Amino acid sequence: MWFTLSRNLRAGIPNRIWDGCALLLRQQRPDRGFCADAGDGRLKYLNWKYGIPVDKPFAESCVENSAPILEVLRPRLADCRRLLEIGSGTGQHAVYFAPELGRLVWQTSDRLENHPGINAWLREYGLSNVAPPIRLDVLVDPWPDAAFDAVFSANTAHIMPIAAVEAMFAGVGRVLRTGGRFLLYGPFNYDGAFTAPSNERFDAWLKERDSAMGIRDTRWLAGLAADAGMRLIEDIEMPVNNRTLVWRREA
Ligand SMILES: C[S@@+](CC[C@H](N)C(=O)[O-])C[C@H]1O[C@@H](n2cnc3c(N)ncnc32)[C@H](O)[C@@H]1O
Repeated sequence: MWFTLSRNLRAGIPNRIWDGCALLLRQQRPDRGFCADAGDGRLKYLNWKYGIPVDKPFAESCVENSAPILEVLRPRLADCRRLLEIGSGTGQHAVYFAPELGRLVWQTSDRLENHPGINAWLREYGLSNVAPPIRLDVLVDPWPDAAFDAVFSANTAHIMPIAAVEAMFAGVGRVLRTGGRFLLYGPFNYDGAFTAPSNERFDAWLKERDSAMGIRDTRWLAGLAADAGMRLIEDIEMPVNNRTLVWRREA
């Protein structure tokens, strides 16, 4: 989508950013704005409603996976009133999903370093049913002292080291009420095997960056879930070789 800015608005945008936009117009959300590469290695999210660049983190993957994830969340969270998101990242999922799931309160969380970005997205959207991020590094921070109806986490298990994944499952088991759901989105392996060559390449790419990262096996996760009092109730195929695993907190 191309658009024209008035001369005054154009003058307010640094050339570096404008050139980046022109060259690398990438992802479009006509209702909100678009993402462009600012040329300094970071993606910028430009809010064309105001015609000015808003400097906040942007994950293209969130734009791509939001619609299919929402399709999974909507029917499964119909009765949910309180949801905890682990590893909110940029905060995009929270602001995309929460307005569509208007009867629940979406509690964002992440390590402290991601809070400014999440807060920037929350400020822009001004949603009444998204709560500002709580500091939650699953390995070191205290978990919220609350019973949630659901916990959602996307693309975290392959980023967290083994000990953190273990801590995440143990913590989820503690904060979920009986009957509550844990929905975990991402790529997973089955019986030690990758589900697609692209996942195998992704795993190698992750390990090159940090040997503690890697795609996790569902069998191992099943053990962690059982220890935390959870039972797998759904394993849903998602686009580009991802899955959404859904566990239920048993009594
Ligand atoms: C690839 S990002 C995914 C972000 C977001 N959920 C998404 O789908 O775009 C991985 C996230 O895991 C979080 N993370 C990594 N280690 C963590 C830990 N020990 N505790 C909590 N979050 C962690 C990171 O801070 C980051 O937000």
